Amino acid sequence: MELMEAINGRRSIRKYKSDPVPEGDLQAVLDALRRAPSWANTQCWEVVVVKDPKIKSELATALPKGNPALSSMTDAPFVLVLCGKKGVSGYYKGQASTVKGDWLMFDIGIAMQNLCLAAHALGLGTVIIGMFDHKKAEEILGVPENIEVVAMTPLGYPAAEGGTPKRKEFSEFVYYEKYQRKE
Ligand SMILES: Cc1cc2nc3c(=O)[nH]c(=O)nc-3n(C[C@H](O)[C@H](O)[C@H](O)COP(=O)(O)O)c2cc1C
Repeated sequence: MELMEAINGRRSIRKYKSDPVPEGDLQAVLDALRRAPSWANTQCWEVVVVKDPKIKSELATALPKGNPALSSMTDAPFVLVLCGKKGVSGYYKGQASTVKGDWLMFDIGIAMQNLCLAAHALGLGTVIIGMFDHKKAEEILGVPENIEVVAMTPLGYPAAEGGTPKRKEFSEFVYYEKYQRKE
């Protein structure tokens, strides 16, 4: 699939078939993730691949009932949980290099988007899930103190596609030369 087609065509998928995902496709998606850029190539990502229905159901309890992605946690064959190692991205000799502190969220975000685009190119669906009880997810998965869970996504074949949510016009968010609008 051509890149712009993948970028434009990717949608958040919240309904999944239970059909298995070929092992090679799972590896391809993980490979796309690890090719993401990261702060000084620190690659702070860690991924928990969850296939066990019991653990997927447990993880689903970390989502609030109103999260529209709730059923996808148990319907899709896999849930991939993206974690980040703290104090690595954006740090030099143990000190934060910028006022932003830890760039973990940024790096994991890029890695997640690589994963989502690669999955889409393979005909697989994803939906980034950020609205859940992170502490609970960390307990369920046994994630150690120096690592934090950032976001997760189901991975599987789409059963239904949602609509295309509207995007802002350039005029609403692009500024030229300085942060000001031309009258
Ligand atoms: C950081 C982040 C967190 C998100 N969390 C959730 C979530 O908890 N539940 C959900 O259904 N969708 C979640 N989404 C998906 C967005 O709602 C979706 O990307 C947005 O509506 C645009 O739709 P599209 O992905 O189909 O273009 C999240 C997306 C991002 C980037």
